[in-house]
Amino acid sequence: MKTVRTIAELRLSGVVGLVPTMGALHDGHRSLFRAARAENDVVVASLFVNPAQFDVAADLSSYPRDEERDAEIAAAEGVDVLFAPSVEELYPDGFSTWVDPGETGAEGASRPGHFRGVATVCVKLFNIVRPRRAYFGQKDAQQAAVLRRVIRDLNVPIEIRVLPTVRDPDGLAISSRNVLLSQEERKEALTLPRALARGAETYTQGGDPVAATRSSFNGATPDYVELVELDAATVLAAAIRVGPIRLIDNVLLKGELS
Ligand code: PAJ
Repeated sequence: MKTVRTIAELRLSGVVGLVPTMGALHDGHRSLFRAARAENDVVVASLFVNPAQFDVAADLSSYPRDEERDAEIAAAEGVDVLFAPSVEELYPDGFSTWVDPGETGAEGASRPGHFRGVATVCVKLFNIVRPRRAYFGQKDAQQAAVLRRVIRDLNVPIEIRVLPTVRDPDGLAISSRNVLLSQEERKEALTLPRALARGAETYTQGGDPVAATRSSFNGATPDYVELVELDAATVLAAAIRVGPIRLIDNVLLKGELS
């Protein structure tokens, strides 16, 4: 695997699959690398903690970083090129053009500017890497929905693939920020997947999944509970704050991921 830090050095040929990441790689990222490896000639993973998508400055400074470990994980999963540019490489002096995705649901409403930052960096990465396919996780369902709409609205000629959420054995969706939870907080965090599972179960019995989820938080107040449309799938999504972090998760209600 080659690590490339500048756009000029990135020379690729064949069918390229791109997996955009912010590093602190875990099993969720690994599943995206594997899917990309299976479907493309060349796999590029980007590693870039994108300042433009952090609405809270403290969150950017506390974001876990370990490039050496990330490089080992990416190489072990068959990534060919790790694209790890500097902030100046992607946002040089004078940078001023943004992709504004418009409607971004409850997740967007709780994080002003977040999806503008995500959409902008992803469109830049699509133009720099020119992949045929780009891979995203269901875990960030609103992100995947936003990016699907961005590529449709702006006629970006790539396919976006969305892969199922990878969970720890206790059911918590794996996230780079989970390392910031204490043991007690981690227990509290489990109310999120459990409430969503309750909502999905209620839905299969003909009930209201949003109301059932809302009433299953054992006293904690979710930021939101809402349905997110992902092309052929509908997911039930929610967010809660636990200790120092905000957790998001969702479960498939109907249809299929694609
Ligand atoms: P990051 O949080 O590093 O996530 C990179 C990709 O991994 C995203 O598509 C995310 O949905 C996926 N992912 C994270 N946890 C997962 C899990 N438990 N199971 C399956 N997939 C999972 O999302 C971002 O970075 C950034 O917003 C980015 C798209 C790179 C733009 O900066």
